[in-house]
Amino acid sequence: MASERILLIVGGGIAAYKACELVRLIRGAGMSVRCVLTEGAAHFVTPMTFAALSEQPVHTSLWDLKDEAEMGHIQLSRQADLVVVCPGTADLIARMANGHADDLATTLLLATDKPVLVAPAMNVRMWTHPATTRNVAQLRADGVAVLEPNEGPMACGEYGPGRLPGPPAILAAIREKLGANISTPFVSSEVETPALSVSTSLDTNGGEKPRLAGRHILVTAGPTHEPIDPVRYIANRSSGKQGYAIAAALAALGARVTLVSGPVELTTPPGVDRIDVETAREMAAAVDAALPADAAVMVAAVADWRVEGVDQKIKKGAGGPPALALVENPDILASLAARTDRPGLVIGFAAETERVIDHAIAKRARKGADWILANDVSGDVMGGDGNHVHIVTRDGVESWDQLPKAEVARRLADRIADELARPH
Ligand code: C5P
Repeated sequence: MASERILLIVGGGIAAYKACELVRLIRGAGMSVRCVLTEGAAHFVTPMTFAALSEQPVHTSLWDLKDEAEMGHIQLSRQADLVVVCPGTADLIARMANGHADDLATTLLLATDKPVLVAPAMNVRMWTHPATTRNVAQLRADGVAVLEPNEGPMACGEYGPGRLPGPPAILAAIREKLGANISTPFVSSEVETPALSVSTSLDTNGGEKPRLAGRHILVTAGPTHEPIDPVRYIANRSSGKQGYAIAAALAALGARVTLVSGPVELTTPPGVDRIDVETAREMAAAVDAALPADAAVMVAAVADWRVEGVDQKIKKGAGGPPALALVENPDILASLAARTDRPGLVIGFAAETERVIDHAIAKRARKGADWILANDVSGDVMGGDGNHVHIVTRDGVESWDQLPKAEVARRLADRIADELARPH
């Protein structure tokens, strides 16, 4: 599926720094973003910051569009699916309302044939000034979506409406405007970022906060590598895709996510703290160090055994192939579930090739996990993009259809958010 493209126009106000967070969220939701800064915006945040976050060139001037012969500014304004102005300063809103085209930002806004969304941010008196009220009314009459600013203490020391709406709320408005079920790869083609439903609930200040805000969730993913000698190792076919998609889905709901990852070829999802490990014992130590957590999702395909004590490279010799002495690895999931300070919700995976549900029910009891997600790995699940899972809980078994791993992740993240919100 083609990824939605956002053209983000950053106005020159102190809230420009929050546009950086918005770029991160937009990309986490699977969309691409191209940034244009007004001259004023570049005084608050450098174009380099936006270039790094968006991984796209950033434009600040009409005259730096090299392909002007091909009307670069027209192209830029048409290539997007949605134009977002964040922060919309009083001046930028005024110039938009009056059809100015004296810099790159306003030229693009005048030339675009795409919907436009404005997230205003300015001093309270500027917002309530009759001129701004008039300009906003004009923009709305022209079909531009102008969000209501938040109310609260402002950078200038005053209090009232004029604060930039929170980046998650702006993302929700973007999704609504696109009317899209966004579910596309975000940075690398390897991992799919799940559809970001930006489930929000009202916080005590009346603002919106993501459903997993304030929660710490631990995720393990990928295989482990168990050395045979300094140059060889035992591994498995886990790609890490399902675990990475789950980490991305949890972060998209606002959780602080620690992802303890075995060796994989995947990009770290936005907003996720990643700790790289190689062996099961390193993974166990990283999991311990990451506690406490509200929930843990153990997706890693941890090697059950490791090779005991071979410090030197094993030589091919006349004695024939060597016998490898294997010892059992720690069971990270079972030890975590047995701790008195365990996370409130401990979730394991069960990769099975036969009698999937029966084995998962037994595994849930044996490991002390709250939920087990069971899947049949006899097909191409390891490394593939789809998964057919059954959730085994205390209350029974629920089977989901065959789904993209990103969708499995999104549903699981929603289920986790529901569970953590339940009174215990
Ligand atoms: O026993 P089995 O490997 O089938 O169990 C799978 C579940 O247990 C997964 O959630 C996996 O991450 C976890 N596991 C673990 N430590 C091990 C083996 C498995 O955490 N040593």
